[in-house]
Amino acid sequence: MRGTVAKCVERFVVETYGAKAWKDCLQQVNLPATYNISVMSEVDDRISLRLLNEIHEVLGLTHETYTDKLAKYWMLVYAPETYKPFYRSIKTLPDFLQKLDWIHQFMVKDNSKNTPRFSVKKIAEGLIQIEYQSERNLHVLFKYMLIYLAEYFKQPVQIKYLNEGVVQVGF
Ligand code: HEM
Repeated sequence: MRGTVAKCVERFVVETYGAKAWKDCLQQVNLPATYNISVMSEVDDRISLRLLNEIHEVLGLTHETYTDKLAKYWMLVYAPETYKPFYRSIKTLPDFLQKLDWIHQFMVKDNSKNTPRFSVKKIAEGLIQIEYQSERNLHVLFKYMLIYLAEYFKQPVQIKYLNEGVVQVGF
């Protein structure tokens, strides 16, 4: 997975819980305290997934609460700062959702078989269905990211979870 995900985890932990907590998290996943993450590099999925799934206890959180807080930071702080051009050119939540799949394909051109896919279809006027597909199965993270993306755009929505990774968004 691209380093941007691990970098987001690092910034979230350091800014919320401090540098010592990040060192503890690295230790938890058997990485050296000097481990360096660069946004565009490739980070082995075994490492990225451990950072997403196995450091919550170090922070004193359940996995669900950790995922919620991380998704909030990712959508309201990290992504808007790191990917300003997307947020400058895409102005509304429906447009952003329509472009979600393209954004991920564009960002990970050379690794497309692992890249998460997001298919969007219109169910009725003001109602779309999004299906998240990834062999990494991070559908809880997807759910919270969607909630905070809507918060970023200050767009009131009704979000209904049909099953893992399938969500309907009413505007
Ligand atoms: C400008 C905004 C965004 C950019 C540039 C971006 C970019 C990326 C990149 C580069 C990855 C790593 C993918 C890989 O290496 O295979 C990633 C992962 C991910 N992104 Fe985004 N993303 C953005 C917004 C979103 C939003 C709004 C959502 C959901 C609502 C989302 C959901 C995910 C998920 C769940 C992953 C984890 C990887 C997986 O499930 O396989 N992203 N994103």
